[in-house]
Amino acid sequence: MNKSKHFNVTIRAWRQDGPEEPGQMKAYKVKAISPDMSFLEMIDLLNEDLIRNNEKPITFESDCREGICGACGLVINGDVHGPDEHSTVCQLHMRRFKDGDVITVEPWRIKSFPILKDLVVDRSAFERIMATGGYISVNTGAAPDANVIPVNKDDAEEAMDSAACIGCGACVAACPNGAAMLFTAAKLSQFALLPQGQPERSKRALSMLEAMDREGFGNCSNEYECEAVCPKEVKVTNIARLNREFLLANFFGKAEPKSSAARLISTPDIPEDE
Ligand code: SF4
Ligand code: FES
Repeated sequence: MNKSKHFNVTIRAWRQDGPEEPGQMKAYKVKAISPDMSFLEMIDLLNEDLIRNNEKPITFESDCREGICGACGLVINGDVHGPDEHSTVCQLHMRRFKDGDVITVEPWRIKSFPILKDLVVDRSAFERIMATGGYISVNTGAAPDANVIPVNKDDAEEAMDSAACIGCGACVAACPNGAAMLFTAAKLSQFALLPQGQPERSKRALSMLEAMDREGFGNCSNEYECEAVCPKEVKVTNIARLNREFLLANFFGKAEPKSSAARLISTPDIPEDE
């Protein structure tokens, strides 16, 4: 490793001992940072220093460190998930910063995701939305049955793109209204677009939207900030689908079948001749 490239930064991190405790920004020098380090490895380095000096390490969340679990959300210098576009914090590298930089690190600032400690927030509101309908509970057959149900290629691709959502919460953190529409829409679309999702389609749309409101998330006002920061590039067209699913389910008591393939396993509340 070429040590001559190593540099030093100052980290201003949010410190808060617990949900009810007051918080404050505290500054720390971090030395000998390799440009190849990830941002989270830099915090690991800082924490080793803090522990050596009998200070409390900074609590933060991470798991996969490869952009697939959604655990590592932070606001860095005011940017949700940091300065890289469509990235998670664990994929951010210190080469994006330079010697002498002062870097501000904060948790998501969302009423529905209360701060638990330092940089960790409670994202269980997302789990509660999923628990109200973000699954398929009807018997859709075994794997061979799934293989013989025709699915339009465009629908399959779109459903996969929606299913890419990792539940990180960046869309909510970036939205001026604290809306969880992109997350909820992605989780609803992945089923609404596929035949297997049709039987519980109306119930799912109504219950997930009710849960979203109950958790105190705001409403969409077409700012598009969610799409701009989403690390999985989930599109706002999912929100349009969410609204359509809600209207159909609310006013007509059913959601329209997506395709002829969808009708193959539709339940009685989705007439086969529509
Ligand atoms: S829609 Fe994107 S930003 Fe929102 S939770 Fe899913 S992956 Fe994260
Ligand atoms: S630690 Fe899993 S997405 Fe960052």
